[in-house]
Amino acid sequence: MCGIIGYIGKEKSKPVLINGLKALEYRGYDSAGIAIPTNNKVEVRKSVGQVKVLEKSLANGNDFNGHLGIGHTRWATHGSPSEANAHPHRDCLGRVFVVHNGIIENYKELKGYLQNQGHNFLSETDTEVVPHLIENFLNSGKDFDTALFDTLKMIKGAYALAIIDAKNPEILYAAKLSSPLVIGVGSGENFLASDPSALVGKTKDVIYLNDGEIAKIKQNNISITNLEKQETPFEIVRLEWDLEQAQKGDFPHFMLKEIFEGPEVVRSAFRGRIKSEENLVKLGGLEQVANELKQVKRLLILACGTSYYAGLVGEYLFEEIAKLPTEVHFASEFCYRNEPFDKGTAVIAISQSGETADTLSAIQKSKKHGLMTIGIVNTVGSTIARETEAGVYNHAGPEIGVASTKAFLSQLTILAMMAIYLSKDKSSTKVLLEELEKIPEKIKIILTQSAKLEKLAEKYKDYENFLFVGRRYNYPVALEGALKLKEISYIHAEGYGAGEMKHGPIAMISQNFPTMAIVPQNSVSEKMFSNLEEIKARKGPIFAIATEGDEKILELANDIFYIPKTIELFEPLLTVVPLQLLAYYIGTKRGFDVDKPRNLAKSVTVE
Ligand code: AGP
Ligand code: GLU
Repeated sequence: MCGIIGYIGKEKSKPVLINGLKALEYRGYDSAGIAIPTNNKVEVRKSVGQVKVLEKSLANGNDFNGHLGIGHTRWATHGSPSEANAHPHRDCLGRVFVVHNGIIENYKELKGYLQNQGHNFLSETDTEVVPHLIENFLNSGKDFDTALFDTLKMIKGAYALAIIDAKNPEILYAAKLSSPLVIGVGSGENFLASDPSALVGKTKDVIYLNDGEIAKIKQNNISITNLEKQETPFEIVRLEWDLEQAQKGDFPHFMLKEIFEGPEVVRSAFRGRIKSEENLVKLGGLEQVANELKQVKRLLILACGTSYYAGLVGEYLFEEIAKLPTEVHFASEFCYRNEPFDKGTAVIAISQSGETADTLSAIQKSKKHGLMTIGIVNTVGSTIARETEAGVYNHAGPEIGVASTKAFLSQLTILAMMAIYLSKDKSSTKVLLEELEKIPEKIKIILTQSAKLEKLAEKYKDYENFLFVGRRYNYPVALEGALKLKEISYIHAEGYGAGEMKHGPIAMISQNFPTMAIVPQNSVSEKMFSNLEEIKARKGPIFAIATEGDEKILELANDIFYIPKTIELFEPLLTVVPLQLLAYYIGTKRGFDVDKPRNLAKSVTVE
């Protein structure tokens, strides 16, 4: 969900839009575009790639001279990155122009209705239904304001919208629901942006739009109403941010911002995809292979790093929920194995960036062996998204911090939904979906206690070694927690199955070798307690992640961080969050650049 910029005022809008889009580049995007009403028509320019490509295409010529304009950097969710899919999008007659951040969940039915009404669509995006819907209401004789209000009432999902009416080039329209949108208040000019970083250097006075509000922004006047057309009062607040700070909002680092996006990211993963009242999981990206999937007898999950650990959780989920034999391989190893394949095997490739070379090679090898390949990818239109024959997008938004945090939660959510989707026994679907819908609030409870972890990080930051242990669903979490600590603080950390610890690693335990024990109340708690007794007997410090209310752990652990109760299958969505926070706080207390750790790249595009 990327960048929006709007302008109306005394200056020409083109440079304001381009500079505003440049300020939003940090959020990650794949294409960009602007629209400016000039001399009774609206000029539009869009381009794939960086904003500077768009800027270069606008450099010559004396067009785009207007004083009103809208601009967008797209993070594709529906329709691959292309000039046709880039925003702004327009109606048939070229009167209504729109840029949009978010997802319109009911776009398919709206698009079908509008096409039946004779509207001609030029893109694959969900966004394009907005200008045509407004036009459809205009065609029925409604005025623009009413047409806009009625359009917004028909949309389901998330939107931040900036809209131009070519017949009224003195007004910049804005509307918000779930996706952020802020008005910049200037002198003889006003701005609109998806986040304040695009306004730095222009104005420090802003109005944060609330959900369900619509703004009519003129050069010297701003009015805001709700969807019932009632004027709503607004407050102008003053920003005191530098540019980098503005991009992180109230957070000191992108990594912390992205950890705190966890609840929204889980919601975005299941938004429009689960209907607990109907016992239903709908994964549009798998529809074209739905019949073949019914014949699948075995799953092969291929990934790297954090995505591989998500795959290990997926192994337990597919086996327990869908009763499908599942194997997970490091993509880099899979490429060089000589394992026998059979046609009943389907490959699931997991990749946040969608560009990881090892994973891409593994997909290509799978395809050579005639295996079905499915992607779980965050970056729409990325190579892996295009190389796999079907897939499910994370919709997690760009992940800037090199260490993957919110993407892991999104991957787990999608794997859980896929396991339910593939399960032939639907008897537990309702219970699972109802619990899945409660997970964002449970993650939020953990996040509200982040100060406890910051305090504990002070106590543990100087150890040079750490053991992470867990069992079943929390064994992969032990591996991921150890990876986070390694990546961010450069402390040597090993993740192990708790049951395996006594087969060697216990030799390392001493009072200088702490253990992070992931031990929520579940089917293997007693076994975990025995393992912790073995560590305690050797004076190893224990830091436990435990279920709120569990008192037995008090006898074993030196420090405890409690998390809410959930069903065992979904525990990783909760147990990983304190580990992400602990890695973050230890890394910052050790003085490292947690957003750009040494030697690491956000996307490893070499084997
Ligand atoms: C995780 O924090 C690391 N950045 C790294 O292990 C990463 O998960 C791995 O490179 C895979 O990346 P992908 O999900 O983009 O394929
Ligand atoms: N869903 C819209 C699209 O795919 C907007 C995506 C965004 O937020 O950039 O074009």
